[in-house]
Amino acid sequence: MKPVIVVHGGAGRIFKDREEGIRSGVIRAALKGYSILKQGGSALDATEEAVASMEDDPHFNAGCGSVLNENGEVEMDAIIMDGKNLASGAVSAVTCIANPINLARLVMEKTEHMLLTDRGAKLFAKVMDVPEIPGEKLITERSLERWKKKLEADSNPVEFKKEPGTVGAVAIDNEGNVACATSTGGLSNKLVGRVGDSACIGCGGYADNQVGAVSTTGHGESIMKVVLARLLLYHMEQGMSPEKAADTALNYMKTRVGGLGGVIVVSSSGDWAARFSTNQMSWATVKDDQLQYGIHTGELYTSSVSEALGSK
Ligand code: GLY
Repeated sequence: MKPVIVVHGGAGRIFKDREEGIRSGVIRAALKGYSILKQGGSALDATEEAVASMEDDPHFNAGCGSVLNENGEVEMDAIIMDGKNLASGAVSAVTCIANPINLARLVMEKTEHMLLTDRGAKLFAKVMDVPEIPGEKLITERSLERWKKKLEADSNPVEFKKEPGTVGAVAIDNEGNVACATSTGGLSNKLVGRVGDSACIGCGGYADNQVGAVSTTGHGESIMKVVLARLLLYHMEQGMSPEKAADTALNYMKTRVGGLGGVIVVSSSGDWAARFSTNQMSWATVKDDQLQYGIHTGELYTSSVSEALGSK
């Protein structure tokens, strides 16, 4: 099987002055994941590494750069899933760690559980020697600015839904195993303890070697109502292509619950799609040593991996 990776940096409104940084961030993440796959690494490692790279990049609403809750703190959700055996690990409402996706993987591999939250996740991180960092280290000037603005203005829930962010990756490796990984700071000024779709299996992501892998982004409460990632894979099981299944699932979420978002998907035969019902979603993919990426509807740039690496 030829390896494929697809990543997203979140669906929603992307301001012009941030496009370049966000574009570079998704390209970097896709190339990192692909280099792991090319060396014979697993889809699980590739998606985890790609997501960790975006968690470290302050352009994205995940890890450093996460939006803040109503108290001005970063609380993050993440999930990872292995399509080989349907194992999955997740964390929700975690604070003071740089890479929630790494902790989610440890939940999957080192516990008998699938989701640890808040205090329990913190205790587990300690046991696993995951370094604790000051919460302020995850806060950027921009996220602080947005938090203050939302406190000042009476929150407009429609605007709220336009800028959700979230990062994710899906991949298939040369053994035909698929995986997904998703990580987020959630919604700006959310209630303390709010858990979104990104920590919930079937919502923020799902991976099954028999069909494919999906990572989602968008308004978490809407995604959870329709169990978006699993819904998309169900449509593929019924014979739809990844692109058609993605559009059908997103359209259902829009018409049934009024929610907007985006998805990336790779099928068990290596076909992929990156689709969104918002105006924009940053995404990048590498297949056959060819990089493709875009942000706006219908936008698709192509370059070879060697060209892309040369320009870095
Ligand atoms: N999809 C990200 C969130 O709503 O938490």
